[in-house]
Amino acid sequence: MKAWKDNLGRVHNYLRISLTEKCNLRCSYCMPEHGIPLSPRSEMATAEEILEFAKIFVARGVNKIRLTGGEPLVRKDFLGILTGLSALPVELAITTNAILVDRYIEDFKQLGLQKINVSLDSLDHQKFKHITRRDLFEQTFKNILLLEKEGFEVKLNAVLIKGFNDNEIGDFIQLSEKLNITIRFIEFMPFDGNNWDHSKVVSEKEILKIVQENYGEKQILRIADAPNDTSRNYKISGFKGSFALISSVSNPFCGSCNRLRLTANGKLKNCLFSSGETDLLKPLREGKNLNSIIEENLKFKHKSRGGMDSLEKLSDEKLHSKNRSMIAIGG
Ligand code: 5AD
Ligand code: SF4
Repeated sequence: MKAWKDNLGRVHNYLRISLTEKCNLRCSYCMPEHGIPLSPRSEMATAEEILEFAKIFVARGVNKIRLTGGEPLVRKDFLGILTGLSALPVELAITTNAILVDRYIEDFKQLGLQKINVSLDSLDHQKFKHITRRDLFEQTFKNILLLEKEGFEVKLNAVLIKGFNDNEIGDFIQLSEKLNITIRFIEFMPFDGNNWDHSKVVSEKEILKIVQENYGEKQILRIADAPNDTSRNYKISGFKGSFALISSVSNPFCGSCNRLRLTANGKLKNCLFSSGETDLLKPLREGKNLNSIIEENLKFKHKSRGGMDSLEKLSDEKLHSKNRSMIAIGG
């Protein structure tokens, strides 16, 4: 079997599929205030097409598929898609805001969806409401506790924004004392329309310093990272869960990148930050062979962050706003 390799020899065995551009929240760092123009329905990949795409990637070594959005659980035919994918020899994962999770918990169990990442940026009811522009903290938190209780592998993603939620680092970590979850602190990244500014980024180093001040250096244990991990993993001695740092801005991890992304309208993105994308939906509908089209796309994968390899380039709005908003990429 020929693997999906790029010009730098990186093997791509992890596919992230965005199921929808819609979301039941309105997080300010993810989507512009007035939303984004949605792709017409006819240009969205259908459940059958998503399954066909997945099979093409799996045939050449993709062994992990993550479903993203928008919010993947708002898609009406979500269950059909999950059922189809569960028949493939892949590990399934999802990134969700957890609001609808209670409806699907039995299906997740039956279909073998174990790995669940939940986006949650504040433990403070009012701040949650402010950032998501919706009053749904209770529902979200209740579902996170439900997932943990039911034995899922839960990771909480918190995007830190200076002066907004960096004072909650200790509260987040405290959650991992009794709960078997991983708290992942993510450096705030620039995308089209999200008002990013370098001064709003809380860096990996700063986060670690705050944790050290809270718990003492000796209590912080470095734990092993899995291959291709995007995070550096730690735990507080004696705590049930763990925490992790994702430093896409201050210290990117592109050297071990194994990820490909498919947008809800069937475009292949070889990097979270790539402005270029390759349409796979039209050729699929025309019955064309997608293998060479995908290979061609991979040849042009940049070494780091879609070519924005320095902080100067990443900070340049002309460069990073060529990319989509996060809502239309899926993380
Ligand atoms: N910077 C960093 N992380 C982000 N996410 C969304 N937008 C951004 C951003 N601008 C994260 C969310 C979600 C994951 C898919 O991506 O927290 O959990
Ligand atoms: Fe991969 Fe792009 Fe993320 Fe780097 S920035 S890890 S190349 S997706």
